[in-house]
Amino acid sequence: MSKKIASGISGLDSLLGGGFPEGSLVMVAGGTGTGKSTLALQFLHAGATKLNEPGVLISLEQEPSKIIASAKQYGWDFQDLIDKNKLTIVAPSIYKFESLEENITAAVKKINAKRMVIDSYTIASAFFVKPEERRRGLMLLSRKIQQLGIISLAISDVPEGKEAYSVNGFEEFVVDGVLSLELLADARRNTFTRSIFVRKMRYTEHSLKRVPFKITEKGCVIYPDEVLFE
Ligand SMILES: Nc1ncnc2c1ncn2[C@@H]1O[C@H](COP(=O)(O)OP(=O)(O)O)[C@@H](O)[C@H]1O
Ligand SMILES: [Mg+2]
Repeated sequence: MSKKIASGISGLDSLLGGGFPEGSLVMVAGGTGTGKSTLALQFLHAGATKLNEPGVLISLEQEPSKIIASAKQYGWDFQDLIDKNKLTIVAPSIYKFESLEENITAAVKKINAKRMVIDSYTIASAFFVKPEERRRGLMLLSRKIQQLGIISLAISDVPEGKEAYSVNGFEEFVVDGVLSLELLADARRNTFTRSIFVRKMRYTEHSLKRVPFKITEKGCVIYPDEVLFE
């Protein structure tokens, strides 16, 4: 059994059987609006404020100013964390794979980061035009990230109605774990319910329950002991 690293997110560590395996690269997979980015920002905030684990956000989707503003609505002061070298947001302007790799390593070294988020892996994979290069490139990137020895979350956009955890269908095989976020239709109440499920976590005996979670004004709250749709 490898050492477990607490995520710092309420309810998640209990689903994980204690936390993420040390040094693991974990995919956070889900459709649009399922809460992937929010969960990832909370992971960085909790690490930097409660666990003395500085974090790096590689943002390929959003401008840093937008991220800082959206974190603020949950009461997370990202600007303060950046000023204190507990957080770095990297938004590469050149969409080249080699520079992405360099950016990651440099940012992690700079603040001695212990956790990282790539939002999103889906966009990183799109740096490669040819599908055959995409698979090889992502495998190499994953290996490089795993060598850093930190906990990394790789966000994966799942197309609606697809029975997979990624756009290309292979991303989930090169990671150590997969968290699946879904908005499930609650037909009786004519609404949707947020849910989370640990699909895979190497070296871990984890829960296989899909459980409800909420996004509140303080961020994500996961309910590991509750059942969906009672
Ligand atoms: N302040 C808030 N309080 C509660 N829920 C919110 C708040 N802000 C955003 N949300 C919910 O979070 C969703 C966006 O989550 P996000 O993490 O961006 O999803 P994803 O990255 O999976 O697309 C929104 O669609 C909305 O339902
Ligand atoms: Mg997002």
